[in-house]
Amino acid sequence: MIYSRIAGTGSYLPEKIVTNADLEKVVDTTDEWISSRTGIRERRRAADGETTGDLAFYAATHALDAAGVKASEIDLIVLGTTTPDIIFPSTACLLQHRLGANGCAAFDVNAACSGFMYALGVADQFIRSGQVRKALVVGAETLSRMLDWTDRSTCVLFGDGAGAVVLEASNEPGILTTKLHADGAYKHLLYNPVGVSAGFNDQEPNHGIRVMMTGNEVFKVAVKTLDRIVGETLEAAGMHESDVDWLIPHQANLRIIEATAKRLKLSMDRVIVTVDRHGNTSSGSVPLALDEAVRSGKVQRGQTLLLEAFGGGFTWSSALLKY
Ligand code: ACO
Repeated sequence: MIYSRIAGTGSYLPEKIVTNADLEKVVDTTDEWISSRTGIRERRRAADGETTGDLAFYAATHALDAAGVKASEIDLIVLGTTTPDIIFPSTACLLQHRLGANGCAAFDVNAACSGFMYALGVADQFIRSGQVRKALVVGAETLSRMLDWTDRSTCVLFGDGAGAVVLEASNEPGILTTKLHADGAYKHLLYNPVGVSAGFNDQEPNHGIRVMMTGNEVFKVAVKTLDRIVGETLEAAGMHESDVDWLIPHQANLRIIEATAKRLKLSMDRVIVTVDRHGNTSSGSVPLALDEAVRSGKVQRGQTLLLEAFGGGFTWSSALLKY
């Protein structure tokens, strides 16, 4: 039996910190409202000219170093993003060339906030089938470029950042199960209204590019759906709540994270939380949290990790793995 094992993790955050107090000067909001509703205290913002591909490159380099793997050894790059540098080539192809991994398969996955989890699920299948020995999986976003900075209901929630893992084929158990789901019927609750084929709107700021969200409805579906998927994931692997050492959730809202932890009967000291400092970095969120947990020494080799995400589409996904 071939498994994918995480050989190394990496991440990158832009230098500029935007606090809730900074946002009080931009829109009609308060630190109290943002932190009590979401748990977010600050987030990062990419510098002018700094792109998703730049963030992905630094995160990938750190992951390759941690794994002791050369870029030229990589057989596959899968990159989750909704904020690609340009429409094509994919950000994965731009990253491949910059790393010097030319020749391997490279493509982007757009699953909104579940982008990294989808990318992980795809790469895992390539490794399990024996087609690929080493894969680089990245989640990278510059959501700040997609926000309407006059809309207080969305601009306070998101941040920029990237995370990456190197997966290697192994006979030892690694990723035990991944689950990927979507339901396009929920498009109206969370979407970006413009695009190449649907057209951009030159009359609007940022050509109409913005996040449209019915936050309280998204919140309710996210809690219910994540509740369901974590149960389904444990069942598929023949495991129980008590087998999970760490929950590494998508970092959208502390209240959503707490609800999932409660469902798993996990105390919050077994949950990795970065939303307070990163905000919601969409595809970047899970690998950023994973890398922070590995580098801080919280997550140890041999432990069982449950990763999950929920985002626009709706998409939702999970992975249960031995680190
Ligand atoms: N500052 C102050 N007031 C605000 C702000 C703000 N930044 N944003 C909204 N409000 C106001 C609203 O106008 C509303 O005022 P009203 O009652 O006078 O009409 C009031 O706050 C309550 O608004 P709600 O949307 O009902 O507030 P809620 O408690 O649901 O919190 C939030 C909003 C934080 C967006 C929450 O619903 C949430 O986190 N939802 C999940 C959405 C999410 O995370 N999406 C990201 C992508 S999907 C994902 O990753 C899960």
